[in-house]
Amino acid sequence: MRAVTISEPGGIDALEVGELPDPTAGPGEVVLDVAASAVNRADLLQRQGFYPPPKGASEVLGLECSGVVAAVGDGVEDWKVGDEVCALLAGGGYGEKVAVPAGQVLPLPKGIDVVTAAALPEVACTVWSNVFMIAGLRADETLLVHGGAGGIGTIAIQLAKALGARVFTTAGSPEKLERCRELGADVAISYRDQDFVEVVKYETDGAGVDVILDNMGAKYLARNLDALATNGRLAIIGMQGGLKAELNIGKLLTKRGAITATSLRARPVEEKAAIVASVREHVWPLVEEGHVRPIVHAHVPLDDVREAHRLVEDGEQTGKVLLTI
Ligand SMILES: NC(=O)c1ccc[n+]([C@@H]2O[C@H](COP(=O)([O-])OP(=O)(O)OC[C@H]3O[C@@H](n4cnc5c(N)ncnc54)[C@H](OP(=O)(O)O)[C@@H]3O)[C@@H](O)[C@H]2O)c1
Repeated sequence: MRAVTISEPGGIDALEVGELPDPTAGPGEVVLDVAASAVNRADLLQRQGFYPPPKGASEVLGLECSGVVAAVGDGVEDWKVGDEVCALLAGGGYGEKVAVPAGQVLPLPKGIDVVTAAALPEVACTVWSNVFMIAGLRADETLLVHGGAGGIGTIAIQLAKALGARVFTTAGSPEKLERCRELGADVAISYRDQDFVEVVKYETDGAGVDVILDNMGAKYLARNLDALATNGRLAIIGMQGGLKAELNIGKLLTKRGAITATSLRARPVEEKAAIVASVREHVWPLVEEGHVRPIVHAHVPLDDVREAHRLVEDGEQTGKVLLTI
């Protein structure tokens, strides 16, 4: 099969399209003919050699895809050859075929075509598991989403709004702030020109927000804690602002706050299957009813994978960049 390979970890020029052996369906797995994959920020790190795949996962980049079931392994009962699906992957999306545990496969939501569906699995699973399954955001609560115009942010805003929460978000340009408002954000804050703690405090009469979905890590830890309400929950999913920071435990304790941090990719197959099942039950109906739409910035053919990485590296996109195969 044709797939993206990496000559030496490094810059965009490290990405090549070459030939690799076709994957086979092991017990409990299906093989998909891939229609599209999506570029995730983690792919940029893996390309640079900083985010190796978990043990046993494909070395090929790509944490999600859509396509058609081409083969089923022993013990797979839920899927058959010819089904159109999308899937959460530990790797392997940037190729013509990929093997994936059957529990990580989702049907296409009704009304979503097979290419567009590649924009959903990673963001839906990440947002649903962190904001709702772990942080337990409720309808009468407030959520602050950092990076609201990103792949994660565009889904987090729509999901939280659809479920009745008041949504605050940060973004880096007037156009992206406007896009966040169109997606349902009640308060959109420029992370370049405004202090999000001040805005959150002002808008909540000093109370703070109940849940924060954070992509920045170290750089925002102290300010996130300041912006958090009593009994607030900070869900960290990214380290774009660094790995190490000092934490004022006294402040966390006084607020009776909680901080969690998770990586979806490294979770055991059973945990991923549980998240995927929960997404199918709770998120897919919202997509089918039109309350949550996959936001696609660009479709880039596999042969132009370098351009796809450049778009994400330069932060040009609103929503997802898809790689079409
Ligand atoms: N832990 C997990 O399981 C998991 C899973 C998926 C993704 N992630 C992480 O989640 C993060 C977002 O992923 P993504 O796919 O949405 O990436 P993305 O589409 O590339 O978005 C990155 C976002 O970061 C925002 N940003 C940059 N500097 C910022 C700042 N100083 N303050 C606030 N926001 C800032 C950007 O805002 P502008 O575009 O407006 O400048 C953009 O919205 C990444 O760090 C990714 O690695 C984690």
